[in-house]
Amino acid sequence: MDLKSGIAIEEIADGGMLSGDVEGEAVVLVRQGKEVFAVGAECTHYHGPLAEGIVSGESIRCPWHHACFDLRTGAPSAPALNPIPVWNVEQRDGRVFVTTKRDIPPPARAKTPIASVGIVGAGPAGNAAAEMLRSEGFAGAITMIGAEETVPIDRPNLSKEYLAGTAPEKWMPLRDADYYRGQNIEVLTGRRAMQLDTRTKTLTLDDRSKRTFDAILIATGSEPVRLSPPGAGRVHVLRTLRDSRAIIALAEKSTAKGKRAVVLGASFIGLEVAASLRAREVDVTVVAPDEVPLGKPMGVEVGAFIRRLHEQHGVHFRLGTTVATFEGDRVVLATGEPIPADFIVAGVGVRPNTQLAQSAQPDALTVDNGIVVDEFLETAVPGIFAAGDVAHYPDSFTGNKIRVEHWVAAGRQGQTAARNILGRRTPHTAPPFFWSAHYDVTIAYVGHAAGFDRVEIHGSLDDRRALAAYHAGPHLTAIAAIGLDRESLLIEKAMEEGDRNAIDAVIARI
Ligand SMILES: Cc1cc2nc3c(=O)[nH]c(=O)nc-3n(C[C@H](O)[C@H](O)[C@H](O)COP(=O)(O)OP(=O)(O)OC[C@H]3O[C@@H](n4cnc5c(N)ncnc54)[C@H](O)[C@@H]3O)c2cc1C
Ligand code: FES
Repeated sequence: MDLKSGIAIEEIADGGMLSGDVEGEAVVLVRQGKEVFAVGAECTHYHGPLAEGIVSGESIRCPWHHACFDLRTGAPSAPALNPIPVWNVEQRDGRVFVTTKRDIPPPARAKTPIASVGIVGAGPAGNAAAEMLRSEGFAGAITMIGAEETVPIDRPNLSKEYLAGTAPEKWMPLRDADYYRGQNIEVLTGRRAMQLDTRTKTLTLDDRSKRTFDAILIATGSEPVRLSPPGAGRVHVLRTLRDSRAIIALAEKSTAKGKRAVVLGASFIGLEVAASLRAREVDVTVVAPDEVPLGKPMGVEVGAFIRRLHEQHGVHFRLGTTVATFEGDRVVLATGEPIPADFIVAGVGVRPNTQLAQSAQPDALTVDNGIVVDEFLETAVPGIFAAGDVAHYPDSFTGNKIRVEHWVAAGRQGQTAARNILGRRTPHTAPPFFWSAHYDVTIAYVGHAAGFDRVEIHGSLDDRRALAAYHAGPHLTAIAAIGLDRESLLIEKAMEEGDRNAIDAVIARI
């Protein structure tokens, strides 16, 4: 439908969306009362279809990984980095005409006493913070210090398309070096901050240079747990581009017996690695102490479904056991069973990188399963913030203090921290969200359900249209959805608004 030639306003339901195009570009019209917005139809993250998402106030949310875009300006929130285009709309005689693309003026210069911000960690939290500082009009100096040798990368892809061989390496950087130059963001790659002086806000780097800032964001993420049984030195972990490249090189190396891998840990990362290695025709055995893969975070029903899915794709499981020793081209399980392995990948969890906070002078920052921050993501030292995997913060929906290890959550926290560095006093209210992809099945998880005591399954896992609702005592604390993207978005919005009735209503319709 050509939206330039106009349509009757009644064709768009109030609060609803309608798809069309303008000069060959796909556009979504969104009606809010008498006002109609026209925005690009494709999410700038991975091209998700925005018309299949939801509208919330003056924003549109993507069904795939819950990016959110402002309907007036197109401004993105994590995981999207780029805005969507926005068109001008005219209304005449009850008809709506989409006219020209809107030029969004640059942000007004932020009024802040802060002249320089140091960001430790070049992951999604650090990157989103740097970008948000600029899009909020911060004109001062921004330095992002990252221990990896790369600019921030699309880390979730390390275990998915990139590892499977369906995404080229050029897709992996979130931005290229020119982008950071253009935004006047200094990025120090391959550099580690070793020491933090909280009084002067000075960082000492691994080349002994010192940098002093007006505000500091610690976004140091987490590190994979490494195993210790005899021979475990040759076990690969997966966190960085270098790690993923090393696993790909092994997967591509054929032996006379084919390619055989053992994956240790039936975790999200372990299972995603298994799926991607299957795409490369590697024979994969997953070894884990759990009785059900993902049983702990997802419950036994979802875990059993995920196990069946992997078995249908040829993955073998050895559960309820561990590796006793790593010997030559095999591992020997605690049960005594040998499993041939040309290479081994462990996905057995991560630990937050809290060293900088713990060793801070003259006083260490408070660390308790992560760096403790308030609802503004600020530590007890004014002007020092933490975000992402490393932050232990109050969850606004449950009231619990939590730490999460999720891509979108890290980006959103980086954005909140940036606003608060500029003195906006914005509490972090976004519920945690993550997704995990296994073959053609994606799980979307909203909330935080450590220690749930009841799981209700709505819909049918076998039909790949199901929602697991996790309860702790009388309260729902999280949901996991398969094939129900809109429902997971609606529940995320309801959690944000603290509206339990709205959550119940969404679930009741499944
Ligand atoms: C293979 C893989 C797949 C994943 N898939 C998903 C997924 O599908 N969905 C999802 O929601 N989440 C996923 N995650 C989790 C997600 O990537 C993390 O939650 C997210 O990257 C955390 O972001 P962050 O910015 O807090 O930290 P990180 O991404 O860990 O970045 C922190 C950076 O800081 C650096 N650093 C640490 N200490 C210092 C220091 N002292 N000085 C300088 N730099 C330092 C680190 O080297 C790192 O580069 C995945 C993770 C991995 C490893
Ligand atoms: S495709 Fe839209 S958030 Fe990922």
